Amino acid sequence: TLITSALTAQPEANYDETKVPKFSVPDPLVTFGGEAITDSQQWEEKRKLEIYQFFEKQIYGKVPALLDEYSFKVIEQDNNALGGKAQRKQIAVGIKKNNRSLNFNILLYLPIGNENAPVFLGYNFHGNHTVTDDPNVIITEAWNENNEDLKIRNNKATEASRGVRMNRWAIDKMLDKGYGIATVYYGEIDPDKNDFSDGLHSLFYEEGQTKPKTNEWGSIAAWAYGLSRAMDYLENDTNISNVIVFGHSRLGKAALWAGATDLRFAGVIGNDSGCGGAALSKRKFGETIGQINTSFPHWFSESFKKYSNKEEMLPVDQHELLALIAPRPLYVASAVEDEWADPKGEFLSAQYATKVYELYDKKGISSTDVQEVNHPIKQTLAYHMRSGKHDVTDYDWDQYIAWAETFAK
Ligand code: GCU
Repeated sequence: TLITSALTAQPEANYDETKVPKFSVPDPLVTFGGEAITDSQQWEEKRKLEIYQFFEKQIYGKVPALLDEYSFKVIEQDNNALGGKAQRKQIAVGIKKNNRSLNFNILLYLPIGNENAPVFLGYNFHGNHTVTDDPNVIITEAWNENNEDLKIRNNKATEASRGVRMNRWAIDKMLDKGYGIATVYYGEIDPDKNDFSDGLHSLFYEEGQTKPKTNEWGSIAAWAYGLSRAMDYLENDTNISNVIVFGHSRLGKAALWAGATDLRFAGVIGNDSGCGGAALSKRKFGETIGQINTSFPHWFSESFKKYSNKEEMLPVDQHELLALIAPRPLYVASAVEDEWADPKGEFLSAQYATKVYELYDKKGISSTDVQEVNHPIKQTLAYHMRSGKHDVTDYDWDQYIAWAETFAK
C-alpha cells in the first residue's frame, strides 16, 4: 500500500484563484503549424480535423473498429403513459462484434399532441427506472454502483430505487413544452469501474486482448459511442424531429464528446461537466488531469496519462472540444458551489470557443460578458452558472428548454 499511495498521491486540489498558474490557451484559429484561420471553410479544412484527431487519439481514445451488427426492437409501448401526457416506448438495442453482444434499453417518452417532437437524450446514473415513478419502466439488470441514499445495494437496482432521481429529470416540463425525453442507463454500455473485461470495450478485443490499446477508447468515449447508437434508433423514429444530447458531470463529458464526434446531434448540453469536459485543464483549478486519471484510470485513453500534472504540455485545451461542436447549439452550465468542476474554467472555455462560432456568424459568450450567478447568457453557444451545488435542477431545465425553443428546435 505504501508503494501504491506514493505512486498515486496527487497534489492537493487548488481552490485559490491567486495560485492558478500563468497559462495561455492555444488559439483555435491558429493551426499546430502556425497558420492563421480566417473563415469557416479554412477552419473545417485545416484546423477542425487536427484538433479532432488530437482529442481522439490523445484524450478520449479512438473507437477501434466498426460494428458487425446493430438491431433494435420496441419491447414495450403505451400510448397513454404518465396520466395521458406521453407515449412511452422501451427499445432494446443490440449490438454485435466478434460474436460478442451487448444490449441496452432506451426509455423514451414522447409528448402527446406533438407528432414531430424534439427530444433530449441523456444518460442516467442508476437506471431508467430512477428518473420517473412510472411503475412500467423496466429495471436494469446491469451492474450498479452502490448508493445507500438511492437504495442501490449489492450492485443491483431493485424496485426500492424507482423514482429516486426524479428530481434531476424535469420530465413534465419537457412534455408540457412539446419535448420528448430519451434516457439510457450508462452502466449498460460500460460499467463505471476500472475493469476493461466487461462492457462495450470487450466486444472489440482481438484474441488474447484484455484492454484497449494505448490510443484507444476509455469509458467516456465508450459512453459517447453508446449515445450515437441510441441516436441510430432515434433518428429513424418518425415522431422525432431532432435530438439534443444532454449529460451531467462525467456524463456531461460523454455528451460533449458525443456532440463532437456525431454531427447528427442538433444540440449539446454539458451540465457541470468539469475536468475533461467543458473546464479548461490548464487552469489546474479544482479537479486536474492528474487527479482524474488517478481516481478514474479507465475514463480516458491510456495516452492521456502522460499529461497528468503536465497540463502545460497539452497543445489543446477543452475550449477546443467545445469549438468542435460549432456551429451547432451548445449549452455549458456550471453551479457556483461546484468548485471541483471549476465554474470559471467552464465559463472561460465557452468564451474562448466563441470565435469559432463567430466564423459561422453565430453568437456565443463575448469578451465583455461577465459570469454572474443565475444570469444565463443564451446564444447559440450558451452559458449559465446556477446557485447551489453539483446537480441537475429545475432551474437548469427551465434554461435548457427556453434555449432549445430558440436555438435547437
Ligand atoms: C467525480 C469526478 C468528476 C465527475 C463527477 C461526477 O467528482 O471527479 O470528474 O464529473 O465525479 O460524475 O459526478
